[in-house]
Order: sequence, then structure tokens, then C-alpha cells
Amino acid sequence: MPSISSKGKQMPESPIRKLVPYAEGAKKRGVKVFHLNIGQPDIKTPQVALDAVKNSAIEVVAYARSEGSEEYRTKLAAYYANNDIQVNANDIIVTTGGSEALLFTFGSIMDTGDEVIIPEPFYANYNGFSTASGITVVPVISKIEDNFALPPIEEFEKLITPKTKAILICNPGNPTGYLYSKEEIQKLATIVKKHDLFLIADEVYREFTYDGLEHYSVMQEDGLEQHTIMIDSVSKRYSMCGARIGCIVSKNKEVIATALKFAQARLSPPTYALIASEAALDTPQRYFDDVINEYVDRRNTLIAELQKVEGLKVATPKGAFYCIVELPVKNADNFAQWLLEDFHLNNETIMVAPAAGFYSTEGLGLNQVRIAYVLNKEDLIRSVQILKEALETYNQ
Ligand SMILES: Cc1ncc(COP(=O)(O)O)c(C=O)c1O
Repeated sequence: MPSISSKGKQMPESPIRKLVPYAEGAKKRGVKVFHLNIGQPDIKTPQVALDAVKNSAIEVVAYARSEGSEEYRTKLAAYYANNDIQVNANDIIVTTGGSEALLFTFGSIMDTGDEVIIPEPFYANYNGFSTASGITVVPVISKIEDNFALPPIEEFEKLITPKTKAILICNPGNPTGYLYSKEEIQKLATIVKKHDLFLIADEVYREFTYDGLEHYSVMQEDGLEQHTIMIDSVSKRYSMCGARIGCIVSKNKEVIATALKFAQARLSPPTYALIASEAALDTPQRYFDDVINEYVDRRNTLIAELQKVEGLKVATPKGAFYCIVELPVKNADNFAQWLLEDFHLNNETIMVAPAAGFYSTEGLGLNQVRIAYVLNKEDLIRSVQILKEALETYNQ
């Protein structure tokens, strides 16, 4: 039989999706499953975006420009200017989601065997993109006890080798909900300049910051123009995960010119999704105000409910819509599967994402799960009730 590549064999399964068959099984048995496992918001997509597609009069669904249309990139640059990020249309390559932006970025700046340092726990697909690109993730551990703040900068420095090409951060963080401060970004700026590295910042959750805290982008840091690459996406901002539009933003012309070659090879981002994404830039501010208020409410509810449960440890998120919860179990993977296969409370159960897949250090996060607060408050309260009862039964 023809054989599969070793790269293919090494590709990690998504920790977020691998429990799906068990969830399907539960649903077939008539059990309602509350999905706390994925970052698919239940928030409505802005009407302007939906209307733009509905009213579009195109007669041929043609390829778009590989880097995205001039109009869209110009409007995007104006959106960034509103967020104190000074870039122009030529600093942007439109991609098929933030996922492709990450892949193109890895491909543009790293060769097989190169290393990228990432604070862990991190967005699990960074592992997949790294394997696909033949590069090695070097984790630097952030801790639940510190709310997943940036690890001491000396810890990064210890890990730098001749193969290190970049540091990658997610800000605000998935799965931690941590929001890096300006001071933390500046510490990273110093080290990437000192060692001549790239600083890749995945800022797809930029809008989702709470408690009056403001997002500080790596693109706002003076003197870092040649080092920074920002990853962005419409998926979470406009609750348009299925549109599949993102972008790479960098003032480094060589990076953009190289990423463009990757973009040309795949021809074009999806045309209808571009129409929706361009229109979405006209979303009124009150949409975001309402969405943020909703998430703050959900976060407050979820954290308050979790804190009532004995034996749980939870890091309070300052942004995005996830939190890591440490459970009084040995193996959260087994527990998550058991929740779907063997447990229900009045015919309801929950699906969570075991956190080990968000770590690349073997053995870390085994007793942790990620919870996404993408459900309404009532469902979150019910979900924590189910978790509490489940833990009592499981630990008996
Ligand atoms: C941190 C982070 N980066 C990137 C992505 C990729 O998003 P998309 O490809 O939908 O833009 C996600 C999706 O959940 C994410 O959480």
C-alpha cells in the first residue's frame, strides 16, 4: 500500500474536535450537549455584512486579487488607523482566515528545522501549522497561578538558539484569556530586537477586552517595524467564522512580498466572503458595545459560578472568550470523554476542550480544560451545575 508522509503522521489531531464523535453519540441518545468546547460565537453576524452578500449583483463569481482588493485593504487600513495602528493597504495581504495567515507567515519566515518560541498554553492549531511547515515549537510556560501573564523575559532568552526565528504571541489569548500589557509587549520588543527575531502577534480577539483595559498591538510599538507581523481575522470580530477571511499585516516589505507569493499560489481569498468582510467594516460601534457587554456579563457569570465549585482553579480572563479551568481530576481527557459517554444530568451534559492539547510540553495541562463562554448566561449557569454534579459523581 502507498505510504503516508511522516509529516502527515505527525500532524496532531485537533483537541477541540477529537471528542466530536462522542458528542454526536450523546445527541443520538437524546442527550442535550452544551458546547463549551469551541470558539464559535452564537452572536449574530452584523446585518450590513449579510445584506451585502444578499444584495450583491455579481454575475460571475470570479477570483479576487491574490492579496485582496485595493478597496478592501484600504478600508482595512482605515479600521486599523481607528485602532491606533498606522498601516497602509500595501502592508496587508488578505488571506483565507487567520489560519492561512499563520501558515503563510510560517512559510515566509521559517525553514524546516527552525524554531518558534510560544508561551504555552497556546492556540492548539499552532502545533498543526508548525508541523505542516516543518518547524519546531519551543514552549515557554505560563502559569495559571499568574493568570497566564507573560513569563519572565529571561525564560524566553534561555530558549533562544541559532535556529530561533520568531516569538509568537496570541493577544488577547486563546485559551488563556490573558491580555498582554504595553509593558509586556515592550519587554518582547527589546528581546526580538536584541536577537533579531520576528515577533508574530495573533490579534484576532483584539476587540474583546474587558474591565476598561485597552489592547496594545505590537504594531503600535515604535522601532519594531521590521520585526512585527500581525495576524488578523474577521471570524471572531464579526462572528463570521465561516466567511474564512483574515490577513497578514506587516511594515516589513520583504515579509509582505514573500507572503504574496504564497497568496498567488493559492490564487485568491473567497470572493463572496470578501464582499461580506468589506461591508462588515461599516458595522456600527453599538454592535461592538452590545457584544462586549454580553461577553463581560457571560464572563462574570461563568467565573462567579465556577468559583463556587469546590476544588476548581480558574484564571480570570481579561479578553477573548475563553478560560482555563483546573479540575480535581487526574486526566481531563478521560473526564471530557466520560461526560459525553457516561454522564448526563436530566438528559443534559457538557462538552469541554481538554487543555493538554494547548500545551506542547508533555504532561502539562492534563487536569485542565478550556471553557469557551460562547453560550448565553442561562446555559452557562446550567453548564457549571452539570460540571459540579459530574465532578461529584466522577470522583466518588
Ligand atoms: C487564536 C486564534 N488564532 C487564529 C484562529 C483562526 O481563525 P480563522 O482561521 O477562523 O480566522 C483562531 C480560531 O479560533 C484562534 O482562536
